[in-house]
Amino acid sequence: MSKQASNEPAIVMEHVSKNFKVLNRREGLSGSIKDLFSRDYKTLQAVSDVSLTVGRGEIIGYLGPNGAGKSTTIKMITGVLEPSEGKIMVNGVVPYQNRTRNSEQIGVVFGQRSQLWWSLPLIESFNLLRDIYLVEEKEYKDMLELYRSLVDLEPILHKPVRQMSLGQRTLSDILAAFLHNPAIVFLDEPTIGLDVAMKSKIRDLILGLNAQKKTTVILTTHDMGDVDALCKRVVIIDKGKKIYDNDMDHLKTFFGSYRTLRMRLDGEDEWTERVIDENKTDVMKEIEKTQKEHKIKDIQVQEISTEEIIKKIYEG
Ligand SMILES: Nc1ncnc2c1ncn2[C@@H]1O[C@H](COP(=O)(O)OP(=O)(O)O)[C@@H](O)[C@H]1O
Ligand SMILES: [Mg+2]
Repeated sequence: MSKQASNEPAIVMEHVSKNFKVLNRREGLSGSIKDLFSRDYKTLQAVSDVSLTVGRGEIIGYLGPNGAGKSTTIKMITGVLEPSEGKIMVNGVVPYQNRTRNSEQIGVVFGQRSQLWWSLPLIESFNLLRDIYLVEEKEYKDMLELYRSLVDLEPILHKPVRQMSLGQRTLSDILAAFLHNPAIVFLDEPTIGLDVAMKSKIRDLILGLNAQKKTTVILTTHDMGDVDALCKRVVIIDKGKKIYDNDMDHLKTFFGSYRTLRMRLDGEDEWTERVIDENKTDVMKEIEKTQKEHKIKDIQVQEISTEEIIKKIYEG
C-alpha cells in the first residue's frame, strides 16, 4: 500500500478557522437557573485564519502557549474536527471528508497515553497493526529491520506494554506510529516525563525514522530541547493566530544580539536572570547598576536560549 502521493506538499491549510459555541455562564445561583432556561451562547474562535504549507519530510515544531489552538489544529488535520472556514488537504486527502483514508496515511503519538494494547507483548501489537493497515510482509520485515538498526528492540519486543518503563513505552509508541509508513506523524509532547538520556534516545529515533522514511513530522511540545534537536522550522500560534513561521536559524539570528545575564546576589540561592538586547542595553552598565544595590557573588552571560526566544515571541 503506497500512501505517499507524488510531489504535492504533505499538508496544505488555507485560511482555516475553527469556532466553538460556548455557553456564556451567568453568575450565581439565579444566573445558573437563568442558564437552564435561556442559554446565552458566544462564539470562541480557537483557530483563526491559519494558512500553512508543510513539505514532505519536514519536521516542524508547532508551538504556542496553552489554549493557543494547537490541539484544535491537529484535530482538524487528522479529521477529528471539521474547520468552520477554509480548506485542508493532507497528502491529497480532505481529512474531515475522508477520515478512514486519512487515518491510513497518518500516525499519532500522545506523550501521556499509549495507543498500544496494554497487555500484549509489543510484537503482537505490531502484528495487529500490520493486519489493520494491510502492511505487506516484505515492507513489514524491512521496517522491523530498520527499527533494529535504530534501537535495541530485543528488551522490549516480547514485553507487554504495561510492564514497560515510561521510556520503553514511548519508544514503542513511536515505532508503532511509524509501522505502516505513514506520510505524516504527529507527535504530542513525545519526551514528557523522560530523563535526559531517554529524551536523547527518543530524539535520535525520530530523526532516524524521518531521515530513512522521509516522514513529515508535526511536533507539539513545551520542551525546547525537543525543538532544538528536531525542528528546522517552527510555527508559533497564539490566540488562534499564526504569529511566526520560519526557520529556527532565522529565529536565532533575529535574536542574535540577545544575551541572558545571570547574577547570583548575596543572600540569595537562586540566580537572577535577565534577557538583554545588547544593541539597546550595555551588559556592563546593567551589572554596575545592580552592583550599586547588591553584592554580586557570581555572574554568567549566556546566549539566549530557545526557551527564552519563544517566551519573548509569546510576549510579543
Ligand atoms: N470542544 C471545545 N469546545 C469549546 N472550546 C474548545 C473546545 N476545544 C478547545 N476549545 C477552546 O479553544 C481554545 C484552543 O484550545 P486548544 O486547541 O486545546 O489549545 P492548545 O492545544 O494550544 O492548548 C481554548 O480556548 C479552548 O478552551
Ligand atoms: Mg493541546
